[in-house]
Amino acid sequence: MDLAGKTVLLTGGTGSFGHAFVTYVLERWPTATIRIFSRDELKQFEMEKRFDSDQLRFFIGDVRNRSRLLRAMKGSDLVVHAAAMKHVGACEYNPFEAVQTNVLGGQHVVDCAIDAGVSQVVALSTDKAVNPVNLYGATKLCAEKIITQGNNYAAQHETRLACVRYGNVVGSRGSVVPLFEKMVESGQPLTITDPRMSRFWIKLEQAVELVMYAFDNMRGGEVFVPRLPSMRVSDLAEAMAPGRQTEIVGIRPGEKLHEQMITADEARHTIQVGDVYVVLPESHEWDKGTEWSGQPMPDGFEYISGDNDWWLEAGDLAQMLS
Ligand SMILES: NC(=O)c1ccc[n+]([C@@H]2O[C@H](COP(=O)([O-])OP(=O)(O)OC[C@H]3O[C@@H](n4cnc5c(N)ncnc54)[C@H](OP(=O)(O)O)[C@@H]3O)[C@@H](O)[C@H]2O)c1
Repeated sequence: MDLAGKTVLLTGGTGSFGHAFVTYVLERWPTATIRIFSRDELKQFEMEKRFDSDQLRFFIGDVRNRSRLLRAMKGSDLVVHAAAMKHVGACEYNPFEAVQTNVLGGQHVVDCAIDAGVSQVVALSTDKAVNPVNLYGATKLCAEKIITQGNNYAAQHETRLACVRYGNVVGSRGSVVPLFEKMVESGQPLTITDPRMSRFWIKLEQAVELVMYAFDNMRGGEVFVPRLPSMRVSDLAEAMAPGRQTEIVGIRPGEKLHEQMITADEARHTIQVGDVYVVLPESHEWDKGTEWSGQPMPDGFEYISGDNDWWLEAGDLAQMLS
């Protein structure tokens, strides 16, 4: 996707993904404009100072507020929807809030994008949306469906919507890497929920590239899933602090031992295109004429972090973290 002269609205633009996306765009397209849409003025102030670029515009707003979102979207060519409540514990403890931000917010993104005449929307989803066991995952599953099936509302308009779905981001805010870093600094033992626990592992730049891939290839209603390596949390601890004492604290409420990225039922309507799996919409009334070409998945295919054929060992992790 060539962003020259384009305006992109980025919800949740002050977050980890937002910083990586802005860096990526500013390095490549000096005539692109990014509208950052989020609630907290301090984070926006700090981001404005950090990037010091007249290609950025800052909009204070909440995705729960439809009229504000519509105002911000007017005149945008593309939308990246990253805003979310994403902490499993916070979503469990504040369930109504999680639904408001992740589900109602997703509905507003669809509605406003259609009304503002945005041509393409890519929303960020997570492996926790697959067979969800916690409210965060359940709200992100709802959000995925709202985005992909939202194309039904857009059928007469030019707007098309799709999702990307990926696993744990190395070093994002509130993730295990900054947590382990703090424990290393303070000399505490590293707390490990279960030594068998595994996760899919992605770098922020790869997440940004996946979003760009989605803009380039979407027809509407797809979920784009990258092929990713898995890592064991115990290997991560070893990579970050070799030989350091660890403490097993048990799986927390709402956590899975292994994450799943594609279910066997989804695999029936999933194709592989290079290093990306594309979960195609099962039913769609829009763009009836357009077909995807790719490798269909074998019967019974499931994509689960614990069964992955690609693993990061402590050495790979240390290299990735550096
Ligand atoms: N990090 C991961 O490991 C991971 C993995 C897979 C998928 N994802 C998905 O990727 C997306 C971005 O994640 P991230 O790591 O960048 O999260 P993050 O660092 O926590 O950033 C979240 C962003 O959303 C904004 N936000 C939160 N609630 C909002 C609301 N109601 N209205 C408007 N803005 C709101 C926050 O700013 P304010 O608080 O100032 O509003 C912030 O800019 C999320 O959708 C997440 O589910 C993340």
